[in-house]
Amino acid sequence: MYPLRRNRRLRTSDAIRSLVRETIITPNDFLVPLFVVEGKVIKEEIASMPNYYRYSLDLLEQEVKTLWQMGLKSVLLFVKVPDALKDNKGTEALNPNGLMQRAIKTVKNACPDMLVMTDVALDPYSSYGHDGIVENGLIANDDTAAILADMSLSHAKAGADFVAPSDMMDGRILSIREALEDEGFYNTGIMSYSAKYASAFYGPFRDALDSAPVDMANVPKDKKTYQMDPANRFEAIRETEMDIDEGADIVMVKPGLCYLDIVREIKNEVDVPVAVYQVSGEYAMVKAAAEKGWLDHDAVMMEQVTAIKRAGADIIASYFAKDVVKLINR
Ligand code: PBG
Repeated sequence: MYPLRRNRRLRTSDAIRSLVRETIITPNDFLVPLFVVEGKVIKEEIASMPNYYRYSLDLLEQEVKTLWQMGLKSVLLFVKVPDALKDNKGTEALNPNGLMQRAIKTVKNACPDMLVMTDVALDPYSSYGHDGIVENGLIANDDTAAILADMSLSHAKAGADFVAPSDMMDGRILSIREALEDEGFYNTGIMSYSAKYASAFYGPFRDALDSAPVDMANVPKDKKTYQMDPANRFEAIRETEMDIDEGADIVMVKPGLCYLDIVREIKNEVDVPVAVYQVSGEYAMVKAAAEKGWLDHDAVMMEQVTAIKRAGADIIASYFAKDVVKLINR
């Protein structure tokens, strides 16, 4: 006799497939990265990220209103800092009237209920393009962590709901948590980039912010002494558990697609929300292939974000957020 179970019964129509679908993508899944620049009426397309832009504060205001109307309620802010303001210690990052601090206020004024997360790392402010202070050809861990704590405090004072340290220094979550508690910012959260790999997929992002490590003697040419080796798995769990012990409210795996095994493993291991960052290079690859007519943009995009959520992501930071929401609302 033929097997009593025929699995294809559950796939016979769109209605039954919708009924048994395990992973549903909604606007609530997304955290929208936004790039901010100085100036007025600026909306510059990023060359390696088609249809993604840097906004001046006036247009940022419009953009966040648009996002809010679409049901996208959380943003992750990054700033592009003029070269003249960069130095080894990222001094400008602490300017209470710096671009990030003004961007936070701009978003909160435009959309008071929008959740504002901010990138915390030195690289956009660093004359060497590193996430930490460069000292004798090395990245100084503890001195950097102290600056990251001050930077986080500055963002919290400007109104950030969450700070998102993306630097991978050891012990920085504890430094940040203590600094926030000391100043009474009990409700300011920390989303830690806990398992962040030294990935080649960050290329377009470094174009967007002009933040790549500079090619100079005595400056490390890559970020491999702080970001993780893509070959490692147990280390990702260790990093993540330590960040939770130090006070991280949300942990993150980054990049997304190449690391979904890590996402699942961490999701099974921890009891805090897990975020996944589908990074710039992942976005750029889909856009480029679609431009050539080699892939179906919307279908590939949906398959990828669905896979990220299925793997265990509670939150997806993605440059596709608007494209996805437009598609699912159609
Ligand atoms: C830097 C930072 C990077 C990204 C987010 N924060 C790049 C890097 O580590 O060099 C990458 C995001 C992306 O590629 O979309 N602190």
